[in-house]
Amino acid sequence: MNPFVKQFLLHPRAVSTPCEIRPSLAKPMARSVEGKVVAEFGSGRGAITKYVLRYLPSEGRLYCFEVIPEFCDELRKITEGDNRVRVINAPAQNMYDYMETPPDSIVCSIPLQTIRRKIRRQILEVAKTAVAEKSGLFMPMQYYLPFFGDRPPRLKRVLDRYFSEVQWNPICGYLPPRGHFPPAGYYLCRNKRG
Ligand SMILES: C[S@@+](CC[C@H](N)C(=O)[O-])C[C@H]1O[C@@H](n2cnc3c(N)ncnc32)[C@H](O)[C@@H]1O
Repeated sequence: MNPFVKQFLLHPRAVSTPCEIRPSLAKPMARSVEGKVVAEFGSGRGAITKYVLRYLPSEGRLYCFEVIPEFCDELRKITEGDNRVRVINAPAQNMYDYMETPPDSIVCSIPLQTIRRKIRRQILEVAKTAVAEKSGLFMPMQYYLPFFGDRPPRLKRVLDRYFSEVQWNPICGYLPPRGHFPPAGYYLCRNKRG
């Protein structure tokens, strides 16, 4: 059985989907990353990680937070020898226990709509603090129902409470290589200065 599907069956709430993120979403997310210090929340088997590393400068750092030990083992294998990467088998909301400085960008594919509300609140608080400290960028992805046209999904209302600028970027179409199935997109969240 595919290792991702296996972990989805064992931890449905944390993993939320049996499908890994496709390049049509991972690439634009990775290209939107700003700065040299990056945190990834919920790295899984590295579907987004490998694209973030493609664009990260040689002096950059990528901290991958992932709660499932089997995924961490796979991440360590695919990033072996890359000194920019730290794989951390811990919840993303504990980021500050592992990072001395806040990241410039946070890439997040933790299913914020299905995890427990308390954990979602903790993750958003950590992200908000990091964004405020560095004028940084928080980039959560989300699956959504496309029946409502271009209207942003419900998570936007939650994000609006934490960040002053929240931009929704849906991936158009469902068919590879350009589209994404299940339908998905990502947000660019910042805090305006002043
Ligand atoms: C939808 S999957 C995305 C996996 C991968 N990034 C991909 O693109 O295919 C969500 C991932 O978030 C992880 N996760 C869930 N809650 C987490 C938390 N609090 N801290 C760190 N990782 C978490 C899950 O174990 C899972 O690997």
